[in-house]
Amino acid sequence: VNQTRHLLDINDLSPTELVEVLDRAEVPDPPAVLSGQGVALLFEKPSARTRTSMEMAVVQLGGHPITLRNEEVGIDTRESAEDLARLFSRMTGVIGARVFAHDKVERLAAAATVPVVNMLSDAAHPLQTLADLLTIRRNRGRLDGAVIAYVGDANNVARSLAIGAGMVGAELRIASPPGFGFGDLDLDLIASEGGPVVELDDPREAVRGADAVYTDTWYSMGQEEDALRRREAFAGWRVDEELMASAGEQAVFLHCLPAHRGEEATDGVLDGPQSRIWEQAENRLPSARGLLWWLADQEAGEGRRLGASER
Ligand code: CP
Ligand code: NVA
Repeated sequence: VNQTRHLLDINDLSPTELVEVLDRAEVPDPPAVLSGQGVALLFEKPSARTRTSMEMAVVQLGGHPITLRNEEVGIDTRESAEDLARLFSRMTGVIGARVFAHDKVERLAAAATVPVVNMLSDAAHPLQTLADLLTIRRNRGRLDGAVIAYVGDANNVARSLAIGAGMVGAELRIASPPGFGFGDLDLDLIASEGGPVVELDDPREAVRGADAVYTDTWYSMGQEEDALRRREAFAGWRVDEELMASAGEQAVFLHCLPAHRGEEATDGVLDGPQSRIWEQAENRLPSARGLLWWLADQEAGEGRRLGASER
């Protein structure tokens, strides 16, 4: 039986395991559990934070990151996702992938004998959720009972965050323009994994009294051609100083970045006193490190060495 653990979305961890990963993120000097190991990082899309945090996390755990752009490996064009998973399973200890279609990370995981980490797909961004929850926990002291108000597109970032919030006893409220909210399938999944999303029509109502106000771009990577239509649809959903005032002084402002300044959030909010966006970005590194450490321990617990390197 293949017991290898993957992180394709945040609920691949149990709630207890999720907290364990966050606790490990707080350990500044973890053991070199990836010593002598490579970690393959495949990118179908651009990245600044994810690539850098994953590479540095691997280095801090004693391993060697191998970043490969899709131009080099050609997932499903040069060779199949399955064949790439077989290859990297024999040479590296972990496979990370940033893809368009979510089923590509599922297919990598199905064929891999080492952990596969979703570094963002059109459906999910679990590494971001880990950093988001770490940031909220560091600012608020605890996650249980936290209220997170997400204003904007119910996208990959929102979806993983909603699932993760429910898992740790936080409430996720969302205000999206008509047609850009969660679908019924997602709402059912989120409710069954943790708790129901609270959907509100009015962003001001959604943010009132929240511990965190969160937004992301109105058009994700791959949706650039739809930007004009989306800019119109999201016009009233910008997070500005007035909306942060409706939230209250207790609220921190979060954004996964990159930001389209002046669109989903104003400079005044992004750079304002309530903003924690740089702390949040910085938290990508310890949270990725905590996850990779945890995955390495799961593999070791199975009595296997990470990877299959014959050195
Ligand atoms: N937030 C995030 O994933 O950023 P990058 O796309 O730069 O990796
Ligand atoms: N929702 C955005 C997040 C970028 C980190 C995207 O998928 O492009």
